[in-house]
Amino acid sequence: MSESLVEPQNVIDFVVNKGNGVKGLSQTNLKSIPELYINPPEERLDQTQVVTKKSIPTIDVSKWDDPEIADSICKAAAQFGFFQIINHGIPIEVLENVKEAAHEFFELPVEERRKYLKENSPSPTVELMTSHSPLVDKVLEWKDYLIHYCDGQEIEDSKFWPHVSRDQVLEYLKWTKPIIKKLLNVLLKGLNTDEMNEAKESILMGKLVVDFIYYPVCPNPELAAGVGRHSDVSLITVLLQDDVGGLYVREPEGNGWIHVTPVQGALVINIGDVLQIMSNDKYRSIEHRVTVNGTKSRVSVPIFVNPVPDAVIGPVPEVLEGGVKPIYKQVVYSDYFNYFFSKGHDGKETIEYAKI
Ligand code: OGA
Ligand code: NI
Repeated sequence: MSESLVEPQNVIDFVVNKGNGVKGLSQTNLKSIPELYINPPEERLDQTQVVTKKSIPTIDVSKWDDPEIADSICKAAAQFGFFQIINHGIPIEVLENVKEAAHEFFELPVEERRKYLKENSPSPTVELMTSHSPLVDKVLEWKDYLIHYCDGQEIEDSKFWPHVSRDQVLEYLKWTKPIIKKLLNVLLKGLNTDEMNEAKESILMGKLVVDFIYYPVCPNPELAAGVGRHSDVSLITVLLQDDVGGLYVREPEGNGWIHVTPVQGALVINIGDVLQIMSNDKYRSIEHRVTVNGTKSRVSVPIFVNPVPDAVIGPVPEVLEGGVKPIYKQVVYSDYFNYFFSKGHDGKETIEYAKI
């Protein structure tokens, strides 16, 4: 089997078309990764680029109504584009259960997993993917992911989700949605806009995407990438990670990379392109990447907080007051999103699409 997995077309067939994923590839006990997964030297993260003296802020949100907390959130969004929140009130079991569910899904036999490939999926609200956009990625990413789409009707949407993930994701969403609302409220208030209301909420957080990302053990971790350099296209992303580590964030005012050290019970929050655009660059959607591991598989569970597909995104009027020049034009979110998936990960390039 491994012999035949040298030819690029066979790899694509096995991993992508047949739905074995990188998980299936890693189970063939291959000694080295197929060429399709090998990054050019300039895209490999070596330890000399890692800035160990800096870290992203950790914010205790036990007192959401404290103006100082709001201030630290907006500052972190402006300076780092990334922060961790602790004391958010989600019981630890809820977090552990969702990570456990991610492991359980990827430990299912491939016959079960492949039922969720796009062409087999029982519903458009669940889909199994690999890499980023495997047919256009220049180098494939060492990850598989199961996508749960939620458009505000979770009970309906979740009917066809896998048994191993449904209850855990629903429970996790029940706890995270109020936190997402609070975060957006604070961040929008920081732009001097009106508070969130139901109408805004249904547009700005109208399409939540909960991924179970699985990064299998990799025989050549220094050559492969779990996720290449990119910024998220969401408003914000709420990420739950396990204790393996591997997420790196571009250092502010520099070229190095800061490791997002796993903190038990914390959620990692990052600003996505939509909020950078809406804020006319006041908040920053920072480049980040994920390395893979030679001894441990890793799971992470991001929730991408996306606006509805037909939402029109552009700098909000409040940030242009006093004659500030807009950096971005108005774009339809689905156009922006489709553009992101029409190419491989390429750092901060996506946002150029929205520039005037
Ligand atoms: C992403 C991402 C980070 C991680 O999926 O966009 O950046 O730690 N994931 O899995
Ligand atoms: Ni990301």
